[in-house]
Formats: sequence, structure tokens, C-alpha cells
Amino acid sequence: MPGPKQDVVSIVDLAPALPSLLARANAMKRARHTGDLSRTRPGTNLAMIFEKASTRTRTSFEVAMNDLGGHALYMSSRDLQLGRGETIADTARVLSRYVDAICYRAFRHEDMRALADAATVPVLNALDDREHPCQIAADLLTLYERWHGAFSGRTLAYIGDGNNVLNSLLLGSAIVGLNIVAATPKAYRPPADVVTEAEGWGKRSGASVQLVDTPAEAAKGADALYTDVWVSMGDEAEKEAREAAFRGYQLNAELLALAKPGVWVLHDLPAHRGQEITDEVMDGPRAAIWDQAENRLHAQKAILEHVLQARAG
Ligand code: CP
Ligand code: NVA
Repeated sequence: MPGPKQDVVSIVDLAPALPSLLARANAMKRARHTGDLSRTRPGTNLAMIFEKASTRTRTSFEVAMNDLGGHALYMSSRDLQLGRGETIADTARVLSRYVDAICYRAFRHEDMRALADAATVPVLNALDDREHPCQIAADLLTLYERWHGAFSGRTLAYIGDGNNVLNSLLLGSAIVGLNIVAATPKAYRPPADVVTEAEGWGKRSGASVQLVDTPAEAAKGADALYTDVWVSMGDEAEKEAREAAFRGYQLNAELLALAKPGVWVLHDLPAHRGQEITDEVMDGPRAAIWDQAENRLHAQKAILEHVLQARAG
């Protein structure tokens, strides 16, 4: 009998399994580089509903399902009856009759929750306005590789918008025991409930969770620096106000010089070069950004393997 379904709506849903998933993703990555695709979930199907654009998430989920021996079906929400008013819950009920899991990129976190509540198969959050958990699994995998699995005593500094990426990063870092410090303009701090939840995880793992006002305060002595766009998908109407508020919140050579000499630079991509990050840093020797993008594939393979029930043949 299959056990209860395992959704990944928040990075917190992976909390107990996260360290072992990183180890599994790392093993799958090494295997793939020698030609072994880890075909452990043959015959499984993943429905992928996207309300927003995607390069990395869509491609890495599709390739991950192929590798595992399964199949992925890409569905733009515009082409589904969802776009004509069929409810999210009804869509979830129907898709659950065909596929073994659903990944969803949504504008609204409430819609993500509604889909997960109504689906009888696992739902994976492929980004919404509150979290981006699969991204953060890949980010942690990138640091895990570079630090040989040892997060404790290291500090990740995030510079920029208190958005979906930062929310999942606060929670994910605190879960694995990595200190996190985030510099955002005061008006763009992450939601207080996310910070409180991350502090709770930090108490258990020994990680500190800190919010500061200036990029320099965050970057000083950091082991890793992370930034994301100033204008996320869905925030386009605020473009001008955001570009004004975030001027100065740029990951550049000056900021890099404040961090530890062995610092690694992360960005989830797509980047707006010249805004939140300079060409010099993105294309420089401390950037782990391309490995980070590749790691979407390996991290999601481990997550999919974890949530999918194996099928015969
Ligand atoms: N980082 C990320 O989620 O990229 P995409 O929007 O291209 O999927
Ligand atoms: N914060 C960004 C992440 C893109 C992958 C957005 O939501 O658009």
C-alpha cells in the first residue's frame, strides 16, 4: 500500500529528508557524469503546470523525469481549461487520475495550496510568490559539494529582495544548519512569519538567522553570497519603484572583497546583469552559478525519486 503523499509546497516539507536528499542528489550527479541516469522510477508521469515563464525549472524537471525512466507533460495554464475558469481543485482531481505527481509554477501561493489540498498525488512547488523550494535544494547542493557537506559554522549572505527565493533560502539554510544573513531595503524585508519559522529551525540546527539593512553588513566575512532579481515575475508594475529602492543592493567586486577569500557566489537566474549583479562577478572565478543551474536537475531528480512511488516496468 502506498503511504501518504509527500507534497513539496515549502522547503520545510523536505525538512527531515533534506540532508539525505542532498547526498542522494550528489550521488546521482556523479553517476550521471559517468553515463548512469539513475532509472529508478520507470513508467511514472509528471504533469507540469506553468502560469509563468521558465527556462531552468521546466527543462530540468523534464530531463529529470526522462532520466528516472518516466515522462513529463508540460502544460501552460493558458492552454488548460484552468485558463477558462475550471477550478484549481477540479484540475487537481482530474490530473491525479492520470499522473503520479504534479509540479506547478503559480502566481499565488494560495493556488499552490489549493492544488496540493485537492490532488491525491504529490504536488511540487516550481515557484510561487512565497517560495521556490526546488531552487533552494539545488542551491544547498551547490554549497554541499563545495564544502563537502559541512554547513555548520558557515554563513550565507543574501543581498536584495525579500522574495520567494529568500523565503525558501532562510528556511532551507536554517534547516541544514547554515547561518544566513539577509540585507534588504526595510520596505522589502521577508514576511515576519517566515523569519520566525526560520529562527525556529535555526534554534534546532544551531544556525543563526539575521536581517540587516546594508549589503556591506551582510557580506562581511561571508562564505557565500547570493542575490536574485529586483523585479520578480508578477512584480512588473512596481519596476520603477523597485529599481530605485534596490540601487546599492548590487553584488559587485566591492562587496566580494568584504567576504572571505574563498567565497562562492550564487544566483538562481535569470540575472539582470548590471542591476543586482555585475558581469565581473557573474563571469568571475568565484561564481558557482552555472553549477547551481545544473544542480536543479540533480536536486529535482532526488526529490522526484523521493516523492514518486516506484512502478513496475
Ligand atoms: N531559477 C529558475 O527558476 O529559473 P527559471 O525561471 O528559468 O525556471
Ligand atoms: N524571484 C524570481 C525568481 C525567478 C526564478 C521570480 O519570482 O521571478
